[in-house]
Amino acid sequence: MYWKQVAVGGMGNFAYLFGCEKTKEAALVDPGFEAKTLLAQVQADGYRVAHLFTTHGHYDHVGGHQEVAAATGARIIAHRLEVPMLKAQGIGVDLAVKDGQSVAVGTLVVQIIHTPGHTPGAICLLVNGEKLITGDTLFVGDCGRADLPGGSLEELFESIQKKLKTLPERVQVYPGHDYGDHPFSTIGEEKRSNPAMACRSLDEFRALP
Ligand SMILES: [Fe+2]
Repeated sequence: MYWKQVAVGGMGNFAYLFGCEKTKEAALVDPGFEAKTLLAQVQADGYRVAHLFTTHGHYDHVGGHQEVAAATGARIIAHRLEVPMLKAQGIGVDLAVKDGQSVAVGTLVVQIIHTPGHTPGAICLLVNGEKLITGDTLFVGDCGRADLPGGSLEELFESIQKKLKTLPERVQVYPGHDYGDHPFSTIGEEKRSNPAMACRSLDEFRALP
């Protein structure tokens, strides 16, 4: 599989490019403010962006959405509960997805995992059952904030415990920000070392620094 984790902008964001080696169809995730750089990269690699995924609607993740969509014709994909936040920023959603839905990128299969808590329509993307793009739900060694508008600590706890902790340990974790001591990880490693994932009760989760 074609796969690139790209550091973008001044807030430690990660954008992702991935694609099908057979069809050369690609997807871009959370371009942030560096649409041009990412488009030049994907073009140089010989891929065509047909899908623009949104892990969630915060501006540091969606700043480049309109530019990417205009340049490539890629369809903008987001969870249906995130549509209002995108609309408020002038971004239209072409495909509103829900939990458990699969989206094909060439021969690759992207499974949508709805993980509310950081925002109501936050999603993680499980690519071919191997790589998990977690947005601001889970970082290496930490998790996202739940105290921003639309956030919920209870929902974030449930999302991490029921949706992410139950994935196979070999699944690789690719976060939305470079906040850890390394840029990516695995579910197994996070279960052992990430306090947000290791804690067993909502009270423990609440008490985390
Ligand atoms: Fe965020």
